Amino acid sequence: MINLIALISIKFMLLQRLLALGENKTCVNNCTCDWESNSVDCSSLKLNAIPDFGSSSATIQFLDLSHNVIETLQSESFRKFTNLTSLHLEFNKISEVEEGAFRHLTKLTDLRINKNILTVIKPGIFVNLKIENLYLGDNKIEHIESNAFTNLSNLELIDLNNNFLSSIRENSFSILPSLKDFYIENNRLSAVPTSFFSRTPRLDFLVMNNNSISAIDKYAFKNCLKLKKLHLTGNTIKAIHPRGFSIPAGNLTVQTLNLVYLHMANNTLEDVPAAIRSIPFLSYLDLSMNLFKFVRSSAFGSLYRLKSLHLSRIENLESIESKGFAGLVALTQLFMTSNRKLRDIPIDAFPDSYKLQTIFIEGNALRTLHERMLNWDNLKILQIGQNNFSCSCDLIWIKTSKLLQKSGTRQTLEKATCSLNRQTKYILKLNAVEMKCPIKQTSHNDAKSRLITGLIAASIASCALIVCLVLISCRRNVYSKYIQFKYHRHRDEALFTVEDPKSKTKMFSNKSLIRNERSREETLM
Ligand SMILES: *[C@@H]1O[C@H](CO)[C@@H](O)[C@H](O)[C@H]1NC(C)=O
Ligand SMILES: *[C@@H]1O[C@H](CO)[C@@H](O)[C@H](O)[C@H]1NC(C)=O
Ligand SMILES: *[C@@H]1O[C@H](CO)[C@@H](O)[C@H](O)[C@H]1NC(C)=O
Ligand SMILES: *[C@@H]1O[C@H](CO)[C@@H](O)[C@H](O)[C@H]1NC(C)=O
Ligand SMILES: *[C@@H]1O[C@H](CO)[C@@H](O)[C@H](O)[C@H]1NC(C)=O
Ligand SMILES: *[C@@H]1O[C@H](CO)[C@@H](O)[C@H](O)[C@H]1NC(C)=O
Ligand SMILES: *[C@@H]1O[C@H](CO)[C@@H](O)[C@H](O)[C@H]1NC(C)=O
Ligand SMILES: *[C@@H]1O[C@H](CO)[C@@H](O)[C@H](O)[C@H]1NC(C)=O
Repeated sequence: MINLIALISIKFMLLQRLLALGENKTCVNNCTCDWESNSVDCSSLKLNAIPDFGSSSATIQFLDLSHNVIETLQSESFRKFTNLTSLHLEFNKISEVEEGAFRHLTKLTDLRINKNILTVIKPGIFVNLKIENLYLGDNKIEHIESNAFTNLSNLELIDLNNNFLSSIRENSFSILPSLKDFYIENNRLSAVPTSFFSRTPRLDFLVMNNNSISAIDKYAFKNCLKLKKLHLTGNTIKAIHPRGFSIPAGNLTVQTLNLVYLHMANNTLEDVPAAIRSIPFLSYLDLSMNLFKFVRSSAFGSLYRLKSLHLSRIENLESIESKGFAGLVALTQLFMTSNRKLRDIPIDAFPDSYKLQTIFIEGNALRTLHERMLNWDNLKILQIGQNNFSCSCDLIWIKTSKLLQKSGTRQTLEKATCSLNRQTKYILKLNAVEMKCPIKQTSHNDAKSRLITGLIAASIASCALIVCLVLISCRRNVYSKYIQFKYHRHRDEALFTVEDPKSKTKMFSNKSLIRNERSREETLM
């Protein structure tokens, strides 16, 4: 049955194609017409009007009129193009679009009028259309009048980049139930257009880079429950309300935006904003080129999904407080470069980050790098060049670390230098003996393996002792069968106790054994 239908429809299509070939389809104005795919390319032909394809107009689905010199789109310009789904008008000289210019294009989904010279969007142009993607970027749009964008229920993307918009009026847009991507970078917005965002419940990707937004007020993105990627780079944001990234959720409850990516580089933040701390899904955060002096203790709250953190070119950044990066359990990448005043990353800066794989910390003013700051074994890439390391025994650990087993890291470490008496030396060529460094301190791992060997040795010794005890007790005819061994993990407790279950008194609380234990560990260390 299905096969039959398929066969019939294939035959029908063939018939249609034959008919199409028989028709006298006209291609005009030196355009290139592909009547098989119903696409017509009239780009770069110096056209100043919409060509007339006669009765063929209604079959055209893709019409490219880009790179011409069209100035006006009249209300009847596209009357005949009733089957159009995609219309390209970018790179023309369009300054005026008459009301209803697109009203016959009931199948249009993709409309590009970017790279023209529109200055105003009047009402009656973008109404009751099925368009999904609308490109209006790179014009000179200063105003969007009231009711300009109405009943665009399928609209998924609007590009308004590189225009001169200083605000979005409350009633310019009606609800946009399908809008996912909104681009409005390089405009003159001085505030977040909150009323607009109250009508975009599906918004996922919002780009507002390079505007003049100076603050993020309470509930600025209200109703944007689906917003995942927010770009606010290159604004003048100084303050973010603690509820700036929250959504009022009825009664007294509040929800936080479900942001995954937050780009806020090149702003004027004077502190790591508290508003970010409760964004539960945040995985990427860029706060480079801001104005804060400190990364305070627990500045990032518990962003336990944060993987990638960018804190570069922060001119004022002087210090990272103890536990500055606490709570970042998933952190895998840290980009903290060219902070010219940053002299130290404290030893306990990353108390919770065990997954760090990539660290870029070149171009700071670091004096040293603490061995116990991280478990360096997991690291795959480490860039530490162009710092201000002073050659000292504290850096010798790098020479014996596992970092050198990783090819990329090895190369950058070979170039890393430190200075000693105003002379520049390669860190990997430092000589511990010449520098009279104390014998290598135990590293975390060594300590662990020593502890294990210690424990093994201790247990062998105790077994031997127990055997002796058993032998002795047998000979003395005590309740040798019931001797129990208890093992205590706690260091301060006795490691082994041997009890007589009947008398409940300790036969041996072998303090001497413990002493032996400890002294053995000490000598092994
Ligand atoms: C087909 O097109 C040619 C030129 O484009 C025209 O001269 C001719 O009259 C047309 N024929 C019909 C049947 O429309
Ligand atoms: C088509 O192109 C030719 C050669 O470039 C030109 O001479 C002619 O005027 C063009 N025709 C139209 C209708 O633009
Ligand atoms: C319009 O396009 C559809 C396919 O999307 C096609 O089936 C139909 O025949 C076209 N109409 C005309 C008038 O060419
Ligand atoms: C929007 O659509 C509704 C119903 O579909 C209609 O009543 C209303 O007039 C439309 N608005 C405009 C401005 O066309
Ligand atoms: C902001 O504008 C500047 C200057 O035009 C440009 O260099 C920069 O790339 C822009 N930034 C973004 C994020 O678009
Ligand atoms: C920072 O943003 C400003 C204002 O948008 C822009 O002019 C400047 O080029 C940006 N700086 C960088 C390095 O992107
Ligand atoms: C608000 O809280 C009251 C009492 O706790 C409850 O009865 C009501 O259903 C809540 N309303 C909403 C919208 O959650
Ligand atoms: C680099 O360290 C030296 C001392 O070793 C200090 O005098 C100098 O100011 C430091 N330079 C920077 C840029 O921090």
